[in-house]
Amino acid sequence: MVKICCIGAGYVGGPTMAVIALKCPNVQVTVVDIAEPRINAWNSGTLPIYEPGLDDVVKQCRGKNLFFSTEVEKHVAEADIIFVSVNTPTKTQGLGAGKAADLTYWESAARMIADVSKSDKIVVEKSTVPVKTAEAIERILTHNKKGINFTILSNPEFLAEGTAIQDLFNPDRVLIGGRETPEGQKAINALRDVYANWVPKERILCTNLWSAELSKLAANAFLAQRISSVNAMSALCESTGADVTQVSHSIGTDSRIGPKFLNASVGFGGSCFQKDILNLVYICECNGLPEVANYWKQVVKVNDYQKSRFVNRVVSSMFNTVSSKKIAILGFAFKKDTGDTRETPAIDVCKGLLGDKARLSIFDPQVTEDQILKDLSMKKFDKDHPSHLQPASPTSIKQVSIVGDAYEAIKDSHGICILTEWDEFKKLDYQKVFDSMQKPAFVFDGRNIVDADKLRKIGFIVYCIGKPLDPWLKDMPAVA
Ligand code: NAI
Repeated sequence: MVKICCIGAGYVGGPTMAVIALKCPNVQVTVVDIAEPRINAWNSGTLPIYEPGLDDVVKQCRGKNLFFSTEVEKHVAEADIIFVSVNTPTKTQGLGAGKAADLTYWESAARMIADVSKSDKIVVEKSTVPVKTAEAIERILTHNKKGINFTILSNPEFLAEGTAIQDLFNPDRVLIGGRETPEGQKAINALRDVYANWVPKERILCTNLWSAELSKLAANAFLAQRISSVNAMSALCESTGADVTQVSHSIGTDSRIGPKFLNASVGFGGSCFQKDILNLVYICECNGLPEVANYWKQVVKVNDYQKSRFVNRVVSSMFNTVSSKKIAILGFAFKKDTGDTRETPAIDVCKGLLGDKARLSIFDPQVTEDQILKDLSMKKFDKDHPSHLQPASPTSIKQVSIVGDAYEAIKDSHGICILTEWDEFKKLDYQKVFDSMQKPAFVFDGRNIVDADKLRKIGFIVYCIGKPLDPWLKDMPAVA
């Protein structure tokens, strides 16, 4: 029986390994992590992450050929194939701070693999890493280890949170990069055999190591660039009377452009897009390509602009001040169907409104009070480090309350900001909502999910990103 060990039981390691275990009954999969609470949760009835369909997959194989453990070294030593799926956050200090990937967790995992291995291993980069990382990892692994062969592969993960199980069951492609040597090709074939249990052969792409590493950064950069492009258009739409939904539809019907990922919003979030683009920017700078670096940097800048534009719109619409006004925040996760809040635009929007002394009442169906308080009190980039290294969350933040349902958040508020596109926010009884609010009642839809015309008929003043402005909003001072 082939033994797989995955280091890192997070949003990628957990679901990916659960699906490998399900699809490959002849493979024994053990997911290990240094975070004991996380492993305990994987072994309990309440998994540490919310992902549609995940519970079912885990239930089918846990205890059979899928195991979760904190005995990291034991399982690494026993494995034939080791996936490394630890976090690779943006560096917060030192050289490259605010841009470069922090490979501390990766390096310590590699050193541990080198220390405990007694047999040949295939080591798979599952984490997103800077191009050329494999070279550094190879050096760590082979240093002082005579007689043991480590073959390194790059197998970046393209799943999207919220649809991870679907994406893993039916991936657009699986990418495997390896050295162009006989050992490298043998390792590629071994990993290809694992995926071939359920992924059609033509969707398993094999490349050299550097192409695979760079393809992941490139894919995220292209995806984020589409969002920033449509968001940049949304600002122009608001100034000209064009409707961004109509523009997106019109350009998306061009088969060269395609319809996906063209929804204007308050901005992209998630642990990957910003981190990976900043990393790409840093790599370009290090390779003496400042023009290329500046091109990609702009994608992050437009995203930041979109968030501050949203805050400015809220404040300027409400008579240029939200001081002491109650604002209901609907949704805190970076997108629907996940409880993940890493780099969620909600953090910047909430901090912006708090900066103008608003009172916030926040509701998200999947994010805990503790997580929200932690996010609002933490510095940028700190969140993506393992939880045991993060500062404790405060028990409360002045002017912030976190509540258990949308109606409670909205009651007596002056305005509503919709920051995550949860389906339940589309289905609220907006007449009841209107009746419970202060007047004039504002809705700022950061995800374009409400029926604005219906809401206007009820009496709301509605702002939708990139849509023709309400006469009320037009009369308010221009947004920077
Ligand atoms: P995560 O933070 O959810 O999980 C990483 C886990 O690794 C944590 O539980 C941490 O305790 C553990 N860990 C860190 N150092 C360790 C060590 N030395 N030994 C054992 N465990 C250790 O991170 P996530 O979201 O799963 O991301 C992992 C990697 O995958 C990152 O490089 C990310 O960029 C990439 N990725 C993430 C995607 C996502 O949607 N979250 C999608 C595709 C790639």
